[in-house]
Amino acid sequence: MSGEVFEPIERAGIDELRALQLARLRATLERAYRCVPHYKARFDAAAVHPDDLRELADLSRFPFLVKDDFRANYPFGLFAVDRARVARLHASSGTTGRATVVGYTRADIDTWAGLVARSIFAAGGRAGDVVHVAYGYGLFTGGLGAHYGAERLGCTVVPMSGGQTAKQVQLICDFAPRIIMVTPSYALAIAEEMEHRGIEPRTCSLALGIFGAEPWSEEMRATIEARFGIDALDIYGLSEVMGPGVAAECLETKDGLTLWEDHFYPEIVDPVSGAVLPEGDFGELVLTSLTKEALPVIRYRTRDLTRLLPGTARPMRRLARIRARSDDMLIVRGVNVFPSQIEALLLREPLLAPHYRIHLTRAGALDRVRVYTESREQLEDDQRAICARSLEAAIKTFIGISVSVEIGAPGQIERSSGKASRVLDERSPT
Ligand code: DLL
Repeated sequence: MSGEVFEPIERAGIDELRALQLARLRATLERAYRCVPHYKARFDAAAVHPDDLRELADLSRFPFLVKDDFRANYPFGLFAVDRARVARLHASSGTTGRATVVGYTRADIDTWAGLVARSIFAAGGRAGDVVHVAYGYGLFTGGLGAHYGAERLGCTVVPMSGGQTAKQVQLICDFAPRIIMVTPSYALAIAEEMEHRGIEPRTCSLALGIFGAEPWSEEMRATIEARFGIDALDIYGLSEVMGPGVAAECLETKDGLTLWEDHFYPEIVDPVSGAVLPEGDFGELVLTSLTKEALPVIRYRTRDLTRLLPGTARPMRRLARIRARSDDMLIVRGVNVFPSQIEALLLREPLLAPHYRIHLTRAGALDRVRVYTESREQLEDDQRAICARSLEAAIKTFIGISVSVEIGAPGQIERSSGKASRVLDERSPT
């Protein structure tokens, strides 16, 4: 375990960490029970009391918090402090229903900035670096979360936000940032814009990218690293729990995301039964905040699928790369498919560009899957057909489903300026 750390707690041993977690968890449960009617009602209904927590494993007796609880308590019902103590609100729109609203006290914003600073440091960022932030600013936590963290670390922040791709390129050329923080899909759109203007992305000033907010594969890491000539590191978080900086990858190992366990307690549960799974098993990540004031979250069902791994660069445990959300898992003719599996196969094909959409329809009882992608260069019709058939065969062999692949001309797939939307499921429910 070599390498510098941003804060001494990152070096704490497991025993020290577990003791800290237990003390913080007790205080969190007690405050949630006392200050948030929702928690009191749920704990009472489940016949559990904060005093029942004697060891960390006892947490499994407490009820889950789910996204619908945020909606049911819209907008401020889950807050544990008076509204007047809430210094900032963020919200995620979601595709259906009311927005999910989250709030932060000044101390929460301070904690958050510290964790993002820690994450940037772990990724290799240092005071004095210029950081280009191309996550969206606004109600989304990405832009402001990255911004405050980079400032806390002592960086020079360029608060570019998402979109205006030509301007992104201009500012990267003019301000020479060493670090970019952006979704992996939008990073590709920026690379492309550079190429359109005759700028070779590898020659730009960037040396490090801190990517998150959407699932991306190991193959996508390789693609982005090669295209920009940078190190590409993963950062994870979600607004309900805080925002970016819940977990982050360390440059020295690049082997999954170190979960900042002094502030969050993880469990992995069976996505269907909710039962806690043994350490190392793959399942749904459930997170409990240990220090948040305005909005303590207890056993929040993230829907993100991963596994817990032992610490490497830090003693704290790691999350394996988040391949997908449980609600993004496609069940195609009975086979479980993650879009990232299709992404991984597509990226192995040198003639194809790393842009794709997956379209599902149902004809009678049969699911139809079409994968739309595009070639890097203009292809002859027969080359395109050979390439499409070869990807179809790979998907059949490695994932076990029959799909039809259509390869369009370069630039045909719509680009995102934030989180990419890659799946269109038009199957009517059966
Ligand atoms: O996406 C926070 C964030 C901003 C994280 C910038 C990292 C960087 P939400 O909009 O609430 O918050 O979306 C959270 O995005 O539950 C995951 O499904 C997904 N997600 C976030 N980071 C990753 C990642 C922000 N590194 C949801 N890998 C989460 C895979 C990710 N999925």
